Amino acid sequence: MSSNILSFCYLIASIFFIMALRGLSSPKTSLAGNSYGKAGMLVAIGATLASPLVLTYNWIISGLVIGGAIGILIAKRIQMTALPQLVAGFHSLVGLAAVFVALAALASPESFGIGVPGRIHLSSLIEMSLGVVIGAITFSGSVVAFLKLQGLISGKPVRFPFLHLFNALLFVLIVVITVIFAMHESHQLFLIIIMLSFILGVTLIVPIGGADMPVIVSMLNSYSGWAAVGIGFTLENNLLIITGSLVGSSGAILSYIMCKGMNRSLLNVIFGGFGTTATPISSTGVSTEGRTPAKTGSAIDAAYLLSNSKSVIIVPGYGMAVAQAQHALREMVDMLVQKGIKVRYAIHPVAGRMPGHMNVLLAEANVPYESVFELEDINSDFSDTDVAFVIGANDVTNPVAKSDPDSPIYGMPILDVAKARMTVFVKRSLSPGYAGIDNDLFYRESTMMLFGDAKKVCEEIVKSSD
Ligand code: TAP
Repeated sequence: MSSNILSFCYLIASIFFIMALRGLSSPKTSLAGNSYGKAGMLVAIGATLASPLVLTYNWIISGLVIGGAIGILIAKRIQMTALPQLVAGFHSLVGLAAVFVALAALASPESFGIGVPGRIHLSSLIEMSLGVVIGAITFSGSVVAFLKLQGLISGKPVRFPFLHLFNALLFVLIVVITVIFAMHESHQLFLIIIMLSFILGVTLIVPIGGADMPVIVSMLNSYSGWAAVGIGFTLENNLLIITGSLVGSSGAILSYIMCKGMNRSLLNVIFGGFGTTATPISSTGVSTEGRTPAKTGSAIDAAYLLSNSKSVIIVPGYGMAVAQAQHALREMVDMLVQKGIKVRYAIHPVAGRMPGHMNVLLAEANVPYESVFELEDINSDFSDTDVAFVIGANDVTNPVAKSDPDSPIYGMPILDVAKARMTVFVKRSLSPGYAGIDNDLFYRESTMMLFGDAKKVCEEIVKSSD
């Protein structure tokens, strides 16, 4: 295959990747987006394999078969709620790949067309250093994120005195050694750069609370893209540069959107240690003990209440994902719709633990897109609604976000469920959610707490309605 045809194929693959990102930006087009992504990857791999630069297929085919088999197995077995750590795990591999490619390029520059040993082009040395630093930070940082999210190490922020100063000094040291490496092309210095970058990846991520990991995973996603860009420049591979830029910028945009949805800055996420306390202390600082007890109800009460309503808004949250209650919820809603009740779903931008978490689950249960509304499109309708049915959601409804400037969620937009005539909270206890703060709505006169696993509760409501 000539280099012109190869470049043309890479261009086609890049267009597919851009269409994939476009498609993935909405639940309606996400399946098509996924297919574009697969098509792009097929063109990219096929064209690369057909290129004259490939000398032997043995290693490549072995890698494809083993890696592909592991990928299929993991994708089939992974639980929806474990997706953030899966993504972290996969990013760590992207980072490690960048490190290995850079090491290979340093050991055998003539194979990469970047010079000969001892006389590698200066620009290539700089590019491979950049790729390797970002790649190594991505690798070790993603491993720490994976371990925290998987609960293999504590999710609590690990802090020691002068950690931020230590990180800053470490970063400066890496820059200085990189400059010396670029001047002398010393293999030992290159290994030292890798080791220091591995350490920096760990020390950057350990102080961050497990609860903030989804934002960090998205940020590491962005890093992995930029690592690929660095390596793409070293290898003079346009596809790697374009794809890396797409991953790098989309990851950065996603981190920004997540922070905006939580009304926090990325710096606050990195230095804040938010979401690490889980003591049931009220937002006002008063223990939940000794206050008006929350009103509890049964599935029969909820079935009666819902069946006698004219309009219901469902507010799903992280607990629905944990309970995998989306199918049972859909059945419950079908039953209500058959009774002529108007039922809609309200989705908060950061409900759950990853962007679009609720949309994906509802789509999986074949909930029609027309009945799913974003916060800004439905929030004003709560005041005209009989029942707000909050299933496994907590923080995204907490009015303290509007009233208490000291609250960690202050400023985050919330779904105004309290404005509905009745609010039903389905959860297992009065425990707080992600932000670790109590929700005063549980104790309101117009609130009914329905304790239990979200899936079981929905099933019981359906049974009780017969
Ligand atoms: P949360 O505030 O975390 O509340 C979830 C609630 O679900 C918990 O209070 C828990 O109460 C309940 N629950 C857990 N398992 C359950 C089960 N099996 N059945 C029924 N209920 C169950 O969730 P949310 O309202 O969706 O808010 C999301 C939070 O995550 C926000 O603070 C947001 O900032 C944060 N966050 C979101 C993202 C993205 S991008 N979505 C990323 C990072 C952080 P019990 O234990 O009492 O059952």
